[in-house]
Amino acid sequence: METSCDETAAAVLRDGREVVSSVVSSQIALHAEHGGVVPDLAARAHLEAIGPVVVEALSALEDGWDGIDAVAVTRGPGLAGCLLVGVLYAQGAALGRGVPMVGVSHMAGHVYSAWLSDPTLEPPYLALVVSGGHSDVVELRGHGDARRLVSTRDDAAGEAFDKAARLLGLAYPGGPAIERAARGGDPSRFPLPNTRLDDALSFSGLKTALRYTVRDLGEGSLTDDGTPSDPVVVADLAAAFQATVVSQLLHALTTIADRSGAERIAVVGGVAANQALREAVTEHFAGLPVSIPPLSLCTDNAAMIGAAGWHRLAIHGADASGILVDPVLDEYA
Ligand code: KG4
Ligand code: ZN
Repeated sequence: METSCDETAAAVLRDGREVVSSVVSSQIALHAEHGGVVPDLAARAHLEAIGPVVVEALSALEDGWDGIDAVAVTRGPGLAGCLLVGVLYAQGAALGRGVPMVGVSHMAGHVYSAWLSDPTLEPPYLALVVSGGHSDVVELRGHGDARRLVSTRDDAAGEAFDKAARLLGLAYPGGPAIERAARGGDPSRFPLPNTRLDDALSFSGLKTALRYTVRDLGEGSLTDDGTPSDPVVVADLAAAFQATVVSQLLHALTTIADRSGAERIAVVGGVAANQALREAVTEHFAGLPVSIPPLSLCTDNAAMIGAAGWHRLAIHGADASGILVDPVLDEYA
């Protein structure tokens, strides 16, 4: 089960790697009018959705709950009120059914989404983890053993996409909106700065440059909201922004891959749904096996939590009941 942010999700896995069912109930429509996730609304929506979503996931099994041997649930990082809904539901279910329960890191879930979707992938592998809250390069050295090699100094890649979309007057969530707007745009018309740090990522300079570029278009070219009124300008700025983020991510991944001698590469998290990023990484590492999950396993889902939970249960055993939620959990396996 997964309820860390704005998707309520449940999945049934067999032996950790076979997805029997995966159900995701998105709250995008609920939060879109606010331009971002509203924590209280999200928690309440999880409360309404978690029961039906679990029932739907279980309907893939002939014997429903009787076919379940263990429960895995996201315990962090994420919004406290949202995490509590999933964790309390999972604990109640595990207690009622008499099966073990394990609390899983959402980030470990993303790292394991590559292992789940690619039957040939085994650790060690290097994962570029790019989501709404994180931009990291993580090495999964063995099951249950991960270390972060690179992280962002400020915004996460997905957060940068979301903020840039707002500056351009595009809908939430910003990543898919920028990707759509960028199609046919000219990435070279508005040059944006490309921040390249050796051991970190940073997107705040890029975001500020985009803000000034929009402002400098002049009032006559802006809507009342201060966003560009010409769709061609929006397309060109979206294309420039996307190309710059992709180039920064590729630079960080390449630098660390060379330094660590990585033999397998994965790209995971919501931003891994971006076609330009997928193509750039696949092209650049043409000689190495590159695993990028299908879109449904890039954005938040419960199947990846089941895969990470499968290993966690095998390595560390079940969690005792108690308050497992940790909104700032910093774990990748
Ligand atoms: O992993 P995820 O679903 O949730 C978190 O754990 O945060 O990632 C959500 C983030 C959002 O910031 C969203 O704008 C971004 O992923 N995203 C994308 C695309 N699809 C989702 N960013 C760029 N291009 C996309 N196609
Ligand atoms: Zn996520």
